[in-house]
Amino acid sequence: MRVSHFTSYLVAMVALLVISGLSVGTVYADIAKGQKNYKQKCATCHSLEKGKTGLGPSLYRVVGRKAGADANFKYSKGIKVAAEKGLVWDREALIAYMKNPRKFLRKFVGSKVSNKMTNKFKKLEFRENVVDYLESLQKK
Ligand code: HEC
Repeated sequence: MRVSHFTSYLVAMVALLVISGLSVGTVYADIAKGQKNYKQKCATCHSLEKGKTGLGPSLYRVVGRKAGADANFKYSKGIKVAAEKGLVWDREALIAYMKNPRKFLRKFVGSKVSNKMTNKFKKLEFRENVVDYLESLQKK
């Protein structure tokens, strides 16, 4: 039996809807995972409230923020010099920094600078989810 154009069109549309629904579902799942990751691995040192400095600087609206921008926090030389050189925490920078802050700063600055965040987060998925979560807070 020959399937009419209309039927195949319908099938294609339904398939598209299912696929896009799935990917939206995945993004929400990533945000939820990212929130959990953040609470477990970042929140002890980083508040998300503006100006609320802890062991680490506040990460209020950190995606797209200039490095070293929490005025209450005493940053390492690494962050200070990187900020002078124009470091902005976009998605890529955050993902690379979390993997190995010291290495990231040394590479960005181009010399052996100091660093105060000693935690390293190896899993790419973990880091991506954290950034998805942080980004989602800024869309509100
Ligand atoms: C044990 C405490 C601690 C934990 C846990 C921690 N950090 Fe940090 N973080 C710091 C400190 C301290 C600094 C300041 C770094 C410096 O001055 O070199 C920092 C700096 C940063 C910065 C730069 C902020 C700015 O204003 O320039 C980002 C971004 C960041 N951390 C993200 C994270 C994320 C995301 C996590 C969780 C995956 C995390 N940190 C976990 C202590 C921590």
